[in-house]
Amino acid sequence: MNYTSIIYEKKEHTAFVILNRPDKLNALDNHLLNELKDVFTVIAHDDEIYTVIITGKDERSFAAGADINELNQLNVLSGKKITELGQTVFNQIENLGKPVIAAINGYALGGGCELALACHIRVASENAVFGQPEINLGTIPAYGGTQRLAKLINCGRALEYILTGDCIPAQEAYRIGLVNKLCNPEDVLTEAEKIANKIVSKGQVAVKMSLKAVLSGFNLPPNEGQHVEASLFAVCCGTEDFKEGTSAFLEKRQPVFKNK
Ligand code: COA
Repeated sequence: MNYTSIIYEKKEHTAFVILNRPDKLNALDNHLLNELKDVFTVIAHDDEIYTVIITGKDERSFAAGADINELNQLNVLSGKKITELGQTVFNQIENLGKPVIAAINGYALGGGCELALACHIRVASENAVFGQPEINLGTIPAYGGTQRLAKLINCGRALEYILTGDCIPAQEAYRIGLVNKLCNPEDVLTEAEKIANKIVSKGQVAVKMSLKAVLSGFNLPPNEGQHVEASLFAVCCGTEDFKEGTSAFLEKRQPVFKNK
């Protein structure tokens, strides 16, 4: 597929997905969502890709939300369709089975904030601005934001931001745990790459099992979550990487993982 609203690049084992509608602050229209759906399907099937970084073209914006021109034309039926598409794509990102890092410059509003929330790790510039301003448009976040925001920063805080539509400046987003790391605008991509490279250097079976344990356990009662954790730990115990990792420690050397 030839992409027009995103740019897709690969550097060694990391894929870069760049939102590319800078004149519209990377607003997520139907076309862009479908391109994301396609590219994350490609990434899911590419065994050479271990991590993904998603970012916005230019420093002004990660994504300023769903495209309000399209929202303005929605009715009940088409509204249901677009929310299902947005949810499907963002679930696809969350359940990719490979770590996805959001490198956030500028605006991450509405659907842009929800996209960041669907990623596993968020690195943001000190000029980033988060928020769920849908209330100002007479609607609600509907690409998974009501659920993910409440889980990440707690229910009361999420309700405050969703009900007031207030922006969340980067420092505040960091303080409440909405972002993992803050840095200068020019360093956002480099910092995201540093995290990606660190993950790439690990045994990829353990990376996948870590993601699975945390994400699938998240919605389960603690005892069921621990059951999942135990099963995935047992899987790791059967891998060559586990033998290598533990042996390397005992032999006081660096491990060489084979991802099996
Ligand atoms: N959907 C469609 N177009 C959008 C958009 C969105 N979510 N956000 C920005 N744009 C467009 C603007 O219409 C403008 O296009 P134009 O030049 O053709 O008029 C362009 O992007 C630049 O935006 P502009 O508003 O001129 O920039 P600004 O610096 O003055 O303000 C924002 C930036 C982010 C504060 C402002 O654009 C905004 O509030 N956007 C909507 C945010 C929102 O409500 N998102 C949730 C949607 S569910």
